[in-house]
Amino acid sequence: MKVLVVGSGGREHTLCWKLGQSPMVDKLYCAPGNAGIAGVAECVDIDVLELDKLAKFAVDNAIDFAVVGPEAPLCAGLVDVFKAKGIKVFGPSKEAARLEGSKDFAKQFMLKYNIPTAKAASFTAATPAEEYIREEFAGGAEGIVIKADGLAAGKGVCVAENEETAIEFMRSCLDGVFGDSGSQVLIEECLFGEEASILALTDGKTIVPLVSSQDHKRAFDNDEGPNTGGMGAYSPAPVVDAVTMEVVNSQILDNFLKGIQAEGLDFKGLLFVGIMVNEHGPKVLEFNVRFGDPEVQAVMCRLESDLLDVMLKTAEGRLDEAELVWSDDPAVCVVMASGGYPGSYEKGFEITGLEEAEGEGAVVFHAGTSFKDGRIVNSGGRVLGVTARGGDIAAAIANAYAAVDKIHWQGCFCRRDIGFRALARQK
Ligand code: AMP
Ligand code: GLY
Repeated sequence: MKVLVVGSGGREHTLCWKLGQSPMVDKLYCAPGNAGIAGVAECVDIDVLELDKLAKFAVDNAIDFAVVGPEAPLCAGLVDVFKAKGIKVFGPSKEAARLEGSKDFAKQFMLKYNIPTAKAASFTAATPAEEYIREEFAGGAEGIVIKADGLAAGKGVCVAENEETAIEFMRSCLDGVFGDSGSQVLIEECLFGEEASILALTDGKTIVPLVSSQDHKRAFDNDEGPNTGGMGAYSPAPVVDAVTMEVVNSQILDNFLKGIQAEGLDFKGLLFVGIMVNEHGPKVLEFNVRFGDPEVQAVMCRLESDLLDVMLKTAEGRLDEAELVWSDDPAVCVVMASGGYPGSYEKGFEITGLEEAEGEGAVVFHAGTSFKDGRIVNSGGRVLGVTARGGDIAAAIANAYAAVDKIHWQGCFCRRDIGFRALARQK
């Protein structure tokens, strides 16, 4: 089969790496890809938002199956465009992608289908929003969460500990800092506890969770510093114990499936549920309609089944026939980032030690890398996802960092405590 993956990040490198292991793949393309993806797929220079060009490429090259990685093309309707051209595709329709593309749409969906989540209210004007924030704090709230309604590249959420911060962020959203994405804001009860990520495949008839995982969103050790796209992940996440998973299945995933069926949403792809777990059980923080990055790096390193077979069955509405076999070994992904990320950073520095790192038994997934004069250089904020398995979580962490320590470029940094919550729960 000829397969096209759309995207250029660590997620897409991971998917290409895993898909490329399938004996069913004759040719793998990735648009636009990156320097690491170039090692496992043929990169095609088309941007993820050039929907018509992507469709033309797929038709001209007789692509049998397309996998859309990131949220932006999903929300822009790439799946619908591919389908209109008769291309088989993995991913939700534009309408279903609103579950990630509009936080208000997602919240209304959760409430309608009894999916446990934080209380929230939606506003398009600052004065009533401000009144609501003040009332919440006057009522004893210890914090409040302000969310720009639309996609904002991970920057549209502020967890505010006081009124002033909340009001300022709310106003900046409504004033257009995030463009149209912030013309509506969701103001949400602040939940406390431990976060985890649940990735689940669905074909609209069946929903199947993958193994659990946990991200580390803050830039620096001990969860300090600004929020990022994710500085590292591991799987499984022990916070998602059997009791929690039972609630995830019965109250979140089953109700999600009933909801998309009742609403007639065409969703044949991957649902990512961000949850907060505390003594009251798990509650949904967000839906995403694509694989989490860097969660997918850790999760895919544990998948022993043929990913192409599983994705094809999902796209064809035969997910109930798919078999998912997992390694018991935990996996850990440590993200290496450019100095200054998530703020501004310099690009173009040569990355050394990549082969030595893989010699340590790790897999090095590329995110922001490109070629310059035949060398691999950093070209984005998150640059590499160094991923390793181990007999237990401590061994997986040690293996991942042994590989990280072989890699260098000017200014690179990573967190040194990825997996600390899992280690603490082991003791
Ligand atoms: P979202 O894009 O909605 O997941 O928000 C991004 C991050 O903000 C989440 O991963 C959480 O760390 C945090 N967050 C979102 N909603 C809440 C909430 N209701 N309570 C506490 N933290 C939240
Ligand atoms: N790791 C969080 C995300 O992919 O949104």
